[in-house]
Amino acid sequence: MTTIGMIGAGRWGGNWIRTLAQLPGTQLRWVCDVSPTSLDKIRQQFPQVQTTTRLDDLLGDSTLDGIVIATIAPTHFDVAHRALTAGKHVMVEKPMTLTTKDAIILTDLARRTHRVLMVGHLLEYHPIIRHIRKMIETGELGEVYYLYQQRLNLGTIRADENAWWSLAPHDISVANRLLGAAPVSVQCRGQNIVNANVADVVFAALEYPGGRLAHVHVSWLDPQKSRKLVVVGSRKMAIFDDAAETKLMVLDKGFQKSDGFITLRQGDTTTPIPDGGEPLAVEAQHFVDCIRTGARPISDGESGAQVVSVLEYGQRSLDQGGIVVSIPRAAQPLAA
Ligand SMILES: NC(=O)c1ccc[n+]([C@@H]2O[C@H](COP(=O)([O-])OP(=O)(O)OC[C@H]3O[C@@H](n4cnc5c(N)ncnc54)[C@H](O)[C@@H]3O)[C@@H](O)[C@H]2O)c1
Repeated sequence: MTTIGMIGAGRWGGNWIRTLAQLPGTQLRWVCDVSPTSLDKIRQQFPQVQTTTRLDDLLGDSTLDGIVIATIAPTHFDVAHRALTAGKHVMVEKPMTLTTKDAIILTDLARRTHRVLMVGHLLEYHPIIRHIRKMIETGELGEVYYLYQQRLNLGTIRADENAWWSLAPHDISVANRLLGAAPVSVQCRGQNIVNANVADVVFAALEYPGGRLAHVHVSWLDPQKSRKLVVVGSRKMAIFDDAAETKLMVLDKGFQKSDGFITLRQGDTTTPIPDGGEPLAVEAQHFVDCIRTGARPISDGESGAQVVSVLEYGQRSLDQGGIVVSIPRAAQPLAA
């Protein structure tokens, strides 16, 4: 039995609590939140779970294996650092930290203490993203020329965090994974509409080695809900539309060049339905499996640090009106 404690019982933490409470071979032992009202609700729903407002209660429980952190972003570094120092395995929600430096400190600490450090890049555990990864690895899509993503909705409008930090970590983690590298530069344009100094909509262009581009469009002030990824490869193209009935389409479309002529290929479209469970349950199971086996998580600290560095340098671009900002290498290159 693997024992887990949860820190942060807000909107997203509630999903983690429900998932962990049902996970086979796992005991959700503690839920910690600074808000006693949130804990009252948890006690009613999960009477078997101990609740506390004191993080030290979890850190001092020598039989507790791992901790899931779904508190607000500015607290992630401190809480994760204390948990790793206390010898706990850690799964920290996105964004991992607010600076690349802090993300690297956590990654080094986890490496030195032989603890699991995982980041909540949920889409990496989505069956359709895993399927697209496989199509890239097996060559079915061919060489990936470029990709673009949209994460749009009306709300939740935040005042303490802009749309780039709130929404884009998922898209950056997917782009890094599918392109098998970290970007070399980032250019972000954004607009502050609802609150001064908080971008509600951001258009970002990430350049990857070889000149490949990924475009990310995030907004919480948009008339339609859209969660879309389009990957354009030399053999085939893929569209993942999470809001559509047909979520994945693989299109045999492209171009051929011969004797100076360009012809377009308009082939068949297939609609695979990849196997796999609910992404959060897959992610939670992966954390527990890594604790048990000592395996390195898919979304490990290094890949989390890469994502934070894109967020940080993208913020610099946003602050300077959309200039292209080079990204120094923050961690080891990501494996495809
Ligand atoms: N992976 C995903 O798909 C996904 C989706 C939504 C949110 N998130 C992330 O989850 C985290 C939480 O988001 P949310 O929407 O649930 O926020 P929220 O504001 O609804 O909840 C945060 C909770 O943390 C508690 N808290 C704050 N500081 C604390 C501390 N030091 N110790 C203990 N409890 C503390 C608050 O009282 C609150 O209950 C954020 O990092 C967010 O980016 C991830």
